[in-house]
Amino acid sequence: MRNPEETIKRLNRIGIALTSQVRLDNLMEMIVTEARSFADSDAGSLFTVDQGKLIFRVAQTESLEKKSGRKPSFKAFPLPLSRKSVAGYVALTGQPINVDDCYDLDSPEGPVVDRSYDQRVGYRSKSMLAVPMRDEKGVIIGVIQLINAMDEDGNIVSFTDDVQELIQSIASQAAVAIKNARLISDIKNLFASFVKFSATAIDERSPHTAGHTRRVAGMSMRLANAINEAGEGPFAEVVFSDEELEELWFAAWLHDIGKIAVKETVLEKNARLNPDRLNWIITRMKFHTRNKELLRLIDSRCEDMDTVLEEMKEEEMECESEVEFLSQLNTSGFLSDEAEAKLKNIAAKNIIDCDDGQRPFLDEFEYKNLSIKRGNLTQEEWVEMRSHVVKTRSIVNNIPFTEELANVPRYAAGHHEMVDGSGYPDGIKDEQLPLQARILAVADVYDALTAADRPYKKAIPHEKSISILQEEAVKGRLDSRIVELLISEELYEGHKEDQAEYPWKREVF
Ligand SMILES: [Fe+2]
Ligand SMILES: [Fe+2]
Repeated sequence: MRNPEETIKRLNRIGIALTSQVRLDNLMEMIVTEARSFADSDAGSLFTVDQGKLIFRVAQTESLEKKSGRKPSFKAFPLPLSRKSVAGYVALTGQPINVDDCYDLDSPEGPVVDRSYDQRVGYRSKSMLAVPMRDEKGVIIGVIQLINAMDEDGNIVSFTDDVQELIQSIASQAAVAIKNARLISDIKNLFASFVKFSATAIDERSPHTAGHTRRVAGMSMRLANAINEAGEGPFAEVVFSDEELEELWFAAWLHDIGKIAVKETVLEKNARLNPDRLNWIITRMKFHTRNKELLRLIDSRCEDMDTVLEEMKEEEMECESEVEFLSQLNTSGFLSDEAEAKLKNIAAKNIIDCDDGQRPFLDEFEYKNLSIKRGNLTQEEWVEMRSHVVKTRSIVNNIPFTEELANVPRYAAGHHEMVDGSGYPDGIKDEQLPLQARILAVADVYDALTAADRPYKKAIPHEKSISILQEEAVKGRLDSRIVELLISEELYEGHKEDQAEYPWKREVF
């Protein structure tokens, strides 16, 4: 018989520990570990009852783990909820099972033990205790199953009635803890889905950004996980906790949310001038040429007609060449000095308007846009485009994140900051720039380079994108350690398809 006072203290400690663990998978592992330790049992499992199914969630066997030197990987899977299995029987009847040798269970109505697992791994399940986990309303939400109680000399013994009673008590506490953790998990999953779908909807406003946030989130998480797994090198000492990974996930999914407040004309701009505006200029150009021809004809009554027609032809050819020039100029690319001079000439031509007044052929707005040196955006439009980061910060700052996610706004708004301080909006650099923001920056640049449909540039092939990333790292703008990790671990594999699921998405079977 155990010391009752010590037992109560230990039960209390377990109760506190269980309620402090909100991650469902960790909590269920903890329940089995505590129950095993309390009952001195070698093996233990946990099953939950979910929507009429029995889900095998946790399996621990200390002696096998010791023998193999590692914890075997285990993935939850569903089983039929039937009286033929021990866990199913306990879940359906609410009756605990406590037997000296589980191989003796052979009643036609009751459960039988499938010995194939034991045979496969070279184990002998003998004494067994399985108890239901009932929530505060008495509803059975799962089963704890313990196998092979051990005495101090390492011999298999039976589970005593005292132990059974204590494990039942732990099972009740565990049931309440699981219910609470499920509630928290459901709320988190709900919010994560909302964030994901909002970001996706904003991205899909434009074919130029569709899928960008998802891909950046996927790449960021792959980078963070690779950092966690790096046993050597610059990240050997860096380990992101579960909460930090969750924080990065939210920051990645929210990093461009501020684009919702960026003018669509800027977001969607895919030429120096809107094509309608260019057509307007071309019509004006042709109309002006015709007008000039008519006036020339009126003035030419006493002149040689061949000369007049020749001049008119030249006028028309010039018009056609200028139309061709402006149409080409309007697509993205670099504006050479020569092209700029030609554009200036066209802009400075005088045109007679309806009031017989004269004005330059291109107005200020048209000239300003057509004379953009590189890409499609004017300075003002770049300012508008870049303002999305500040808008991201103000939107994300208004989300009441819990304490462990408090850095989401800082990381999300830091995705255009550069290590050398040349980024925006704050120009923060070096140690001030958190690792998480550097990860987002690398993921963001890689996706912007390889994206197929940005308005201001074409997709750059993978190899070229990698060398641009390396150049940016050499210049001190991107974190070279992260760029090298992306390359050495080939984290770009599967980049386009990564769904960037919430790391603690509730599994539905
Ligand atoms: Fe951005
Ligand atoms: Fe982005």
